[in-house]
Amino acid sequence: MLEISSRERLIVALDVPSVADAERMIERLGDGVCFYKIGYQLAFAGGLALAERLVHEGNRVFLDLKLHDIGNTVAQGVESVARIGATFLTVHAFPQTMRAAVKARSPGLRILAVTVLTSYNDDDLAEAGYGERVADLVARRADQAVEIGADGLVCSAAEVASLRPRVGTAMTLVTPGIRPVGAATGDQKRVFTPGEAIAVGADYLVVGRPILEASDPRRVADAIVDEIARAT
Ligand code: C5P
Repeated sequence: MLEISSRERLIVALDVPSVADAERMIERLGDGVCFYKIGYQLAFAGGLALAERLVHEGNRVFLDLKLHDIGNTVAQGVESVARIGATFLTVHAFPQTMRAAVKARSPGLRILAVTVLTSYNDDDLAEAGYGERVADLVARRADQAVEIGADGLVCSAAEVASLRPRVGTAMTLVTPGIRPVGAATGDQKRVFTPGEAIAVGADYLVVGRPILEASDPRRVADAIVDEIARAT
């Protein structure tokens, strides 16, 4: 597998309301960061055109669009997304959805499966009509993602240790819920430091608020990249 640089392992979540806010943050981060995640908030506010520009300028982009629809619609969506030039795209880990996305992806685009949303607990699954516990459904969907040929999973660093032996080293594991020592946890319940997440086997770390809300975002990003380098 290709060696990933420490800087590239840090994905900054551009969870901001406008393209202008995103551009200001990107400017402040300068060449300290080369990988950005764009989710619903920014994607629905002009963020897809920004994604294209970022790619054009030599950055990498993770489109966190969590697609899920009938196979034909997912495939068409993935084909359109592929034209943006993103590196990662998320889909929900339903077999039909993953199969359609994997079949429609272009060579540069990697499909990441979201197993079970981390806001769900066993009661939420029961309420939605599932008879399985979260841990069992995560394991089932991880196995299906491997079998179908998805490129990776989005998961908590707490799950990396058990998922890695299950999915093997070819699957890319991308982990949010990262907090440098001393950073506010916000609504994240189980947080890992950047060094801990890399040490347990995460490939990429998604960091939002600890960087976005810092008085000096570049300094925080540089410190995270240093910590990643020390842990790899
Ligand atoms: O601000 P913070 O570092 O908590 O941001 C984490 C990012 O990762 C957010 O964009 C959030 O939507 C995303 N995410 C997450 N937990 C998941 C999947 C995605 O926090 N299970």
